[in-house]
Order: sequence, then structure tokens, then C-alpha cells
Amino acid sequence: MGSPTISLDIHLPHWVGRPFLYFNEIDSTNRQLHQLPKEQFTHGIVACADHQTSGRGQGIKAWHSQTGQNLLFSVGLCPNDSHRLILLTLSIAEKIAEFISTITALPVRIKWPNDILVDGSKLGGILTETLFLGSTLERVIIGIGLNVNQSEFPHFEDSNALQAVSLAQLTGVEWNRSSLLVQLCEHIEKAYVFWDNSAPELCSRIHSRLIGYGQWVHVEINGAPVGLRKCLGLTPQGELLFLDEAYTVHRHNHENIRLILN
Ligand code: BTN
Repeated sequence: MGSPTISLDIHLPHWVGRPFLYFNEIDSTNRQLHQLPKEQFTHGIVACADHQTSGRGQGIKAWHSQTGQNLLFSVGLCPNDSHRLILLTLSIAEKIAEFISTITALPVRIKWPNDILVDGSKLGGILTETLFLGSTLERVIIGIGLNVNQSEFPHFEDSNALQAVSLAQLTGVEWNRSSLLVQLCEHIEKAYVFWDNSAPELCSRIHSRLIGYGQWVHVEINGAPVGLRKCLGLTPQGELLFLDEAYTVHRHNHENIRLILN
């Protein structure tokens, strides 16, 4: 196992990242925060690892990452609002995309519901998980995998699988992961506050980076094609709106939607 390359005394000036748990190796940072005893789980806690033995991706997918090359971390939150959580994921995706775009000048976009892409390749992904006690939302765990310095990724035959790419591959330079992590935590904090305050420009900011927004796209729901629809974007409640070819508006409030561009 490689030695830790993100130091434990990383300086996180705001509440996202306090406390900060660092692991050389762990099964999954999301799982770690999920299993943490209630009294240790605080709003803003971050768990970060150099290697995950069972990294989790969206759906049934695994998240693979070479040891010590990328950023693998989860943020624990205790929001009062158990609705609109899809907007929280997207608000965070948007802020991360904006930040990466600012430091690299790359065209970073969001693919519904949780992918961070550059020119069609996957730079990162977000996995949001919740823990309810009865009908009360006890915790939200936002897991983030960002490909930073990995120089090679496997190619998949499956045409639906996105090709992974790293910041280093896209920019030709190696990135300091600790420094990126500190800045990402600051941006995640801003994204949370933005979401929590229901900032009026939240949806338009997401729309500006959302792939397929305002376009006619083929839509799949739970794996089944539902036809050609125009993506009208999000409502402040987090519903995704589509127009069909008969000009009927459809509202969807679940994430298992795929937008396939022509
Ligand atoms: C996806 O695009 O499928 C979401 C990937 C999320 C991966 C991150 S890595 C840190 C955190 N821990 C996990 O097990 N998964 C998330």
C-alpha cells in the first residue's frame, strides 16, 4: 500500500471539511460516513481516501481509481430539507464544474444526473446517498470522485460507457491534490449555501452547464426509451421538465432518466 500523499493536517478554513477524516485505504468513503455513529456524524464532515477497495458509483456500478492519483472523498451533510436533493447534487456538480473550468479553461459540463464531463469524457462523478430514520432525513452523503493525475484508464466496449479522463491528461500537467481538495471543499460549501437558500439563479446556473438543456434528446426512463423530448430544464423543486412531440409537458422527479443526444 502506498504512503499517504494527502496530509492529515490539511487546512480547511470553513465548515465543509471539519472534521476531516483521511484514510490510506478504505472500502468506500461514502460507506464510512454512512456507518459512522450518529454522534460522530456532523454537518460538513469529510472523509477522504487514497484508495477504495469497494468504491461505489451510480446504480450498481463500481468506482475504480488508481491509488494516490485522484480525489476520492465524501461530504456528510444534515440538511433540513429532504426534498430537492437532486438540486443539491447538481448545485455541487455545477460549482465543481465552474471551479475546474476556471482553473483550466476547459469546457466542463454536467451530464444528468451526476457526471462531470469534458468533451464527452468523464472527469468525475457524484454519488449522493441518504439515510432516513423513519421519515426523517438523518444524513446526506455526497461522494465525489474526481480524476486528477491518473494517466491511463481502461477502454470499454460498451457504447453506453463514458471514457474516463483526468485533469492531468487534459492539461498536460500534474495537479496538487491537497490544494485542489481544499478549494473543492470551499466550492462545495458555497454550492450548499446556494441550494439551502434556494438562490433564484440556482437552476439557470445548472442549465448553463447541463448537456442537452434546450435540445431535443432521446429520453430513457428506468432503461426504457420514452421517445424524443425537448429538455426544458429544472424547476426550483428539482423536477426535470420535457416537452414531447405533441407539445405536452412531462415532469419527472426521479433521477433514473437518461438523455441521449442525437
Ligand atoms: C458515478 O459517477 O457513478 C459516481 C461516482 C462517485 C465515486 C465517489 S469516490 C468517493 C465516494 N465513495 C464512493 O464509494 N463513491 C464516491
